[in-house]
Amino acid sequence: MIAGYIQTDPEFGNKPKNFRQIFSLATDTRADLLVLPELFATGYTFTSPEETAQLAEPVNGPTARFMMELSKLTGAVVVGGFIEQEEDRMYNSSLVVTGETILGSYRKIHLFNREKLWFSGGNKAPEVFEVAGFRLGVMICFDWFFPETARTLALKGAQIIAHPSNLVMPYCQRSMPLRCLENRVFAITANRIGRETRGADDFLFTGASQITGHKGDILSQGPVDQPHIALVELDPTAADDKNLNDYNHLFNDRNPSFYY
Ligand code: ACM
Repeated sequence: MIAGYIQTDPEFGNKPKNFRQIFSLATDTRADLLVLPELFATGYTFTSPEETAQLAEPVNGPTARFMMELSKLTGAVVVGGFIEQEEDRMYNSSLVVTGETILGSYRKIHLFNREKLWFSGGNKAPEVFEVAGFRLGVMICFDWFFPETARTLALKGAQIIAHPSNLVMPYCQRSMPLRCLENRVFAITANRIGRETRGADDFLFTGASQITGHKGDILSQGPVDQPHIALVELDPTAADDKNLNDYNHLFNDRNPSFYY
């Protein structure tokens, strides 16, 4: 299968412009899976719950419609981040769409820093989506810091983890090889670039979006300061073999009676 990411440079609050940038990066692209950054339509650095609410959407809002257009244009299952509104709560979510179908959303469980002022923590277990012949898990940005997230997705059968991100710390790209190695899964970390100085925050986003292989090898890494699209060919079934050697199996050798 062909899988990849689109790394963007969004302008805060300007959804039409942010959608156009992705369409122009994806021109002539054909793929099976495309991952977009966290909160790709809105930007990241909010200053109040009211501002966050103004940019929030239901699951079938304008961002979902844009993602379905992108899916139809490219042939890909598309995963990307948005502000999900449900009643009076807002979640930092990622949506999974294919063609005209919204497969579901994942709500970020581990909120970073002041995200806790704008968003409710995810209230659903991480889910694995069976799509287009592969099994797809979703986690969002800072979730990587909690190894339980990737482990849970892998134990539930994910072959590939889509990882929409807005990374501001330098550790994730060099840590994902371990997340992938210890779970024998592929991961696509779709990051953004640019700077947002808003309210109490001044964030420089680190780019370097990354596709990481099931044995911890880096299959592709983007630039730190340019929008970018990258695609690789990978075999998701390679993630199904959890044998490290004749005696060690990554999952069967676990001993949960000793762990929290
Ligand atoms: C982050 O979780 N966006 C740092």
